[in-house]
Amino acid sequence: MAERDFDFATPVHAADSVRWSRFAGRDVIPLTLADMDFAAPPAVIDALRRRAESGAFGYGQPTASLVEAVLEHCRRAYGWAIDPHWLVWLPGLVPALHVACRAVGAAGDGVLTATPVYPPFLSAPIAAGRKLITLPLVRDEYGQSWTWDFCALTALAKSARLLLLCHPHNPVGRVWNEAELWQIAHLAEKYDWVVVSDEIHGDLTHLGRHKPFATLAPELAQRTITLMAPSKTYNIAGLACAYAIIPHEGLRNAFRAVAKGIVPDVNVMGLTACEAALREGEPWRCALIEVLRAQAAQVEQAIAAMPGLSVSRVEAGFLAWIDCRDLPVPDPAAFFEAAGVGLSAGAAFGPADAYRRFVRLNFGTPRGLLAEALARMEKACRQLFAASVSNE
Ligand SMILES: Cc1ncc(COP(=O)(O)O)c(C=O)c1O
Repeated sequence: MAERDFDFATPVHAADSVRWSRFAGRDVIPLTLADMDFAAPPAVIDALRRRAESGAFGYGQPTASLVEAVLEHCRRAYGWAIDPHWLVWLPGLVPALHVACRAVGAAGDGVLTATPVYPPFLSAPIAAGRKLITLPLVRDEYGQSWTWDFCALTALAKSARLLLLCHPHNPVGRVWNEAELWQIAHLAEKYDWVVVSDEIHGDLTHLGRHKPFATLAPELAQRTITLMAPSKTYNIAGLACAYAIIPHEGLRNAFRAVAKGIVPDVNVMGLTACEAALREGEPWRCALIEVLRAQAAQVEQAIAAMPGLSVSRVEAGFLAWIDCRDLPVPDPAAFFEAAGVGLSAGAAFGPADAYRRFVRLNFGTPRGLLAEALARMEKACRQLFAASVSNE
């Protein structure tokens, strides 16, 4: 099935949408927080409808059938044979990041992550009493793509106990390739790191299938906590269902012990949606990827034509990290908001001084709305440069 078999043209959001509520009553197109404006797959909606009509909402747990759906998904999508005992169910990846930081090492141990990065990667180590160590990603010589500075990573390696890896990476949109993953893996082995690999965007790679970090080698799987969820892929983040895959028994027990009694169980609607998405959502997912690939190109072309802005290639997901350092405004997010487009301010994604002149744009919205947002941004940039020329 293809894009034309599903509706990706009608924007969908509810009154309780965090993203839309923020700008309620104002003419601002909200391209901020990472959920999409597309209705969830019909198969997921049908499963939720059946569940709702059953009237049964008591305490629930993952069924054998749901676990089998996850195993099958890992086998089919990544060629990864996982043992059902390795699974730990969670209401989200953010709690998992916090739990992992508390479960590994001891107070004051170093937790390393590469910036810019999804903000909880920065707050979880600190909340756990660990030492946050940040490493800036670097732009390649053509400015097309972000990558790791492996010399700098090696220099920091000894001081870390845990690496928080974002793969694919939010916000720079990279799918780390096998050569990059292996360089990280060698350091993990040499310096005895535990690796938390957040792979929430893994089923949204624009070309080819995702390679989980843990599948590089069995010995790496033993030091890795892989975090996955259907939430981004099938646009069901509000249903709060995720899972960790932790092959090492000691690590898994430590993780479970920290979570016990504090992290809630997954709600029954989330479990229902997860199974329907994994078992029946593939045609919708494939159609979505076509949409996202086309819209990534739309964003790249539009941004390339805007004075003062540049963007690198997006390889996965629906987020674009835009460099506004040549735009003569101190706060680009505020500038674009005044022009009618809500974007995530870069300062939250790492050391504020390094990223305050970047913004993140969520293009998971119907093409027409995206085109309108990009047109507003272009007009604002052009007017700004025209005004600065006429003031000279
Ligand atoms: C890399 C990454 N991890 C985790 C999350 C949030 O996960 P959850 O909603 O499961 O807590 C996001 C949401 O944007 C994300 O981009």
